[in-house]
Amino acid sequence: MKAQQPRAQPHVTGKQCATFKSLQRTVWRMGKKRILVNSSAGRYDIVCGAGALRHAAREIRRLGKFSRIHLISSPKVWRAVGKAVLSGLGLENAHAKHLMNDAESAKNLRNVEGLSRSLVRAGIDRHSLIIAVGGGVVGDVAGFVASACLRGVALVQVPTTLIAQVDSAVGGKTGVNLPEGKNLVGTFYPARLVLVDSAMLKPLPERQYRGGLAEVIKYGIIADAKLFAFLEKNFDAILGRDPAALAYIIPRSLEIKAHVVSRDERESGLREILNFGHTFGHALETITNYRTYQHGEAVAWGMIAAALLGHEIGLTAADEVSRIISLVRRMGPLPAWPRVPPKELISAMYSDKKTRAGKLRFVLAPRIGKAESRDGVPLEALERVLHFAPHFVTASGKRRG
Ligand SMILES: NC(=O)c1ccc[n+]([C@@H]2O[C@H](COP(=O)([O-])OP(=O)(O)OC[C@H]3O[C@@H](n4cnc5c(N)ncnc54)[C@H](O)[C@@H]3O)[C@@H](O)[C@H]2O)c1
Ligand SMILES: [Zn+2]
Repeated sequence: MKAQQPRAQPHVTGKQCATFKSLQRTVWRMGKKRILVNSSAGRYDIVCGAGALRHAAREIRRLGKFSRIHLISSPKVWRAVGKAVLSGLGLENAHAKHLMNDAESAKNLRNVEGLSRSLVRAGIDRHSLIIAVGGGVVGDVAGFVASACLRGVALVQVPTTLIAQVDSAVGGKTGVNLPEGKNLVGTFYPARLVLVDSAMLKPLPERQYRGGLAEVIKYGIIADAKLFAFLEKNFDAILGRDPAALAYIIPRSLEIKAHVVSRDERESGLREILNFGHTFGHALETITNYRTYQHGEAVAWGMIAAALLGHEIGLTAADEVSRIISLVRRMGPLPAWPRVPPKELISAMYSDKKTRAGKLRFVLAPRIGKAESRDGVPLEALERVLHFAPHFVTASGKRRG
């Protein structure tokens, strides 16, 4: 790898975010953390910590009076955490429950209709509260339904996967897929409250948990070298879901996400940095029809490729690239890089909805803890990366398929 290419032009940078050291307003109280998020619809809180759900009833009362609570979840999630949720909410009785299929293939308009009809039949009105309990699929679909049903019903998110806890439940993006592509119909509709209880992660399948760690690594790369160093030092404990390690990485990830979306809810600038690894990751997901990778696994590959691309254009030093790749590898084996020519992946990148005016944009890391978004990356550099990247995981003896 050589760093001889002309530098592509930077657009948004981590610097615009003032400094990530000055955290989102965060308050610790009785072992739980409260992180404030600003949105166009007003401020809301993320309350997080092991056992945060125990405070759920009080937190919901603070939001006001609701005519009825409608819980939305999936059969699988409900089996895993339903009891804990009901007792945390103090809701053994007065509520309605709506279960939806949370397969990615069911994240569609038909599910929106089914759920809306179920809510209407159960008597939902404008003073009802919807509580979404589940991973990103439940959160995105329930959020969309909450935004559209009766033109908007109050929403609380109770995320139950690591990805949902550190990412999808915060920031207000909701939506469903069309046969033409992912998340093509949706709204910005922030929750009134997000309750993040790491105890919900206990029954989460191993692969799902590990995939979620990709997003945590991403936050370290784009915004917080200290978080990244913590991950390097404590990754084994994190893989073992050590409560003390989770008590650091989950709130810290949430602070970064909250900080970014509070300043750029609609992704007109700064929010783009959250897409580190995602231009490549989305292309991998698209080209394999969303069947091969979990989202976090595709992002893991994508972060390896983004680090290499940063180096190719002379932006990211070799030792930083090597730290990024080493940490990503510790997530464990990834499904193989698809056996397709680089050109096919590049054309998948062009069809991504984040492409602007036909230009490919990449979020790159000049160093760990800082990110910037660029277009105008030379095509040859990109092709070289797509050629090299698949070998970086096989080189460590991990499987490719
Ligand atoms: N809105 C956003 O900003 C945003 C951000 C990132 C991802 N997303 C979306 O999130 C979705 C992916 O979400 P995800 O990774 O959370 O996966 P998911 O919602 O598909 O859940 C994965 C699996 O884990 C199960 N599960 C969930 N919680 C569990 C628990 N506690 N115990 C046992 N099993 C549990 C689910 O039933 C499902 O089978 C994608 O559709 C993606 O587009 C949205
Ligand atoms: Zn992601």
